[in-house]
Amino acid sequence: MLIKTDRQGVNHPVPSEITGKGVYENRRTLMKLMAGGVAGAALASWASREALAQTPGNVTRPGKLAALTSTPSRLAGALTMDKLTDYKDASTYNNFYEFGTDKADPAQNAHTLKTSPWSVEIEGLVKKPGKYALEDLLKLSAQEERIYRMRCVEGWSMVIPWVGYSLSELIKKVEPMPGAKYVEFVTLADPKTMPFVGSRVLEWPYVEGLRMDEAMNPLTMLTFGMYGEVLPKQNGAPVRLVVPWKYGFKNAKSLVKIRFTDKQPATAWNKAAANEYGFYSNVNPNVDHPRWSQATERRIGEDGLFAKKRKTLMFNGYEAQVGQLYTGMDLKQFI
Ligand code: MTE
Repeated sequence: MLIKTDRQGVNHPVPSEITGKGVYENRRTLMKLMAGGVAGAALASWASREALAQTPGNVTRPGKLAALTSTPSRLAGALTMDKLTDYKDASTYNNFYEFGTDKADPAQNAHTLKTSPWSVEIEGLVKKPGKYALEDLLKLSAQEERIYRMRCVEGWSMVIPWVGYSLSELIKKVEPMPGAKYVEFVTLADPKTMPFVGSRVLEWPYVEGLRMDEAMNPLTMLTFGMYGEVLPKQNGAPVRLVVPWKYGFKNAKSLVKIRFTDKQPATAWNKAAANEYGFYSNVNPNVDHPRWSQATERRIGEDGLFAKKRKTLMFNGYEAQVGQLYTGMDLKQFI
């Protein structure tokens, strides 16, 4: 996400170190096993391997996802065959403004975030409101690993294996009322543990929102882990949203509240700059950001001097799964 001081070009990521051979081969083996349909067991043992407790370059990894169950089903279209982004890049080049606005800040500062105990409040137009403990959310549905592209509005992208389940599983369990048209996602704003809460970059807490049919789309994921392990704090532990056809800022981190409402939620970036960040924020190469083109992207890890930019795909490549949600809407108007 960009604030108005132009940070583009200043914040180039540190070029990733080459993934260690052992780590790389473990990943390849896992992917082959997944293709063969035995992903659950493979993921569990893979995640617990000590060899993976550290990445090259000594990035501390949070360890295995204790409640990770199995990955019995794989959604058509949820996978991408693109090369995975290096774990090190995915966990050290982040946007999490509660911990600072520089890409390196979250990895450095987020250790203060207290992720246990944790609960998510479900409220608003819903038949089963309440405070749901993280442990119960983890067990609510079988978890799967899904490899999704993530395209940030700033013009870079990553490919990340997320662990979680479709948000629709939770929504069905809590039974929204017929009047519920939108879902609002509220994230933690704790000035004691989040040094930038209180800064004037954004209004806190960081809030995001989806229309009900977007929230119910099977691609929308309630996410607890990545690369077979629990989410690192800088990536939004212990639970976040991943909506792969929208710009990365829709992926609200460290969720504490999910509210069902009849009104379109006022989202953090829309409140900060409505002409630049709309409610929908679907990835769309044909609609420029007022200050830059959205036609191409830089894939993190491919950023050598001569690396070509990639063409950005409509709905980030997920048009077949989500295009119908926007039939009849002028996507130049509804940004
Ligand atoms: N969630 C919160 N609570 N605070 C944030 O600043 N940044 C968003 C999104 N979720 C943000 C957030 C933006 S701009 C992006 S691109 C993604 O998180 C980045 O997710 P990642 O760091 O895991 O790649």
